Amino acid sequence: MTSVTTVSQDGWDRFSIWGHSAIVRELYTRRCRREVEEMTAHAQAAEMLSRRIGAGDSVLDVGCGSGYFYHSLAARNLPAEYWGIDVCGALIDIGRDILPGFGLPADRLIEARIEDLSGEVDHVVCLNVLTNLDNYHRPLERFLKIARKSVILRESLKQGAEYHYVRDDFLDPGIDLKVHVNHYDISDVTQFVASYGFKPEIVVDRRSGGQPELVIGYPHYWTFLVADRVAADRMTN
Ligand SMILES: C[S@@+](CC[C@H](N)C(=O)[O-])C[C@H]1O[C@@H](n2cnc3c(N)ncnc32)[C@H](O)[C@@H]1O
Repeated sequence: MTSVTTVSQDGWDRFSIWGHSAIVRELYTRRCRREVEEMTAHAQAAEMLSRRIGAGDSVLDVGCGSGYFYHSLAARNLPAEYWGIDVCGALIDIGRDILPGFGLPADRLIEARIEDLSGEVDHVVCLNVLTNLDNYHRPLERFLKIARKSVILRESLKQGAEYHYVRDDFLDPGIDLKVHVNHYDISDVTQFVASYGFKPEIVVDRRSGGQPELVIGYPHYWTFLVADRVAADRMTN
């Protein structure tokens, strides 16, 4: 018997962990409905933004999940226009369903990959995303090129990079997928950010207090990096 050859384009959904967890969908639904406490990291990021946001500024939340960081801005009456993008359609659909009930137009949540992201915004926020990608250079460069004013990251950063590709044991039954849990070198990342015309500052993560935190069974070194644009010409890099 001959095997049937198939070549298809559904590999992202099939091989990415993000669409394979009912637990994550449930949690993100409850966050959108404001049924659970605000994430400490989101509170900290919103406070950082509050010192930077001018009236009408746009904030793009990259890898937004279902877009519940919108609540962190709205709860503080920050006069910002919130946008979110995420590659996972199932997670974006949750936000599109629920957040219009809290005042966010559904079209502010966009199903897209960072790889396809373009445009111009005032502030980019990216929380708990780059750590799980294969590397940080291309996505972070994109943020630094499209942000007019600031970029705020919360990722696993430490002295000395480590790259791990590990099985996620918290997915739906029968799903066997791996994900990156990378720790990027703080000096590498800050130098990279500075080379695009930004002034980077490292800030201790409030939730973890700068101590390693286990997520899916692996230590993460959560750290905030806040970068303000200091060079005028943002497209020359
Ligand atoms: C750990 S969740 C973080 C969600 C949210 N930022 C938070 O702090 O709760 C990581 C998110 O990044 C998204 N993501 C992963 N790779 C992506 C990519 N290449 N482009 C856009 N989103 C991506 C996933 O779908 C997932 O929703």
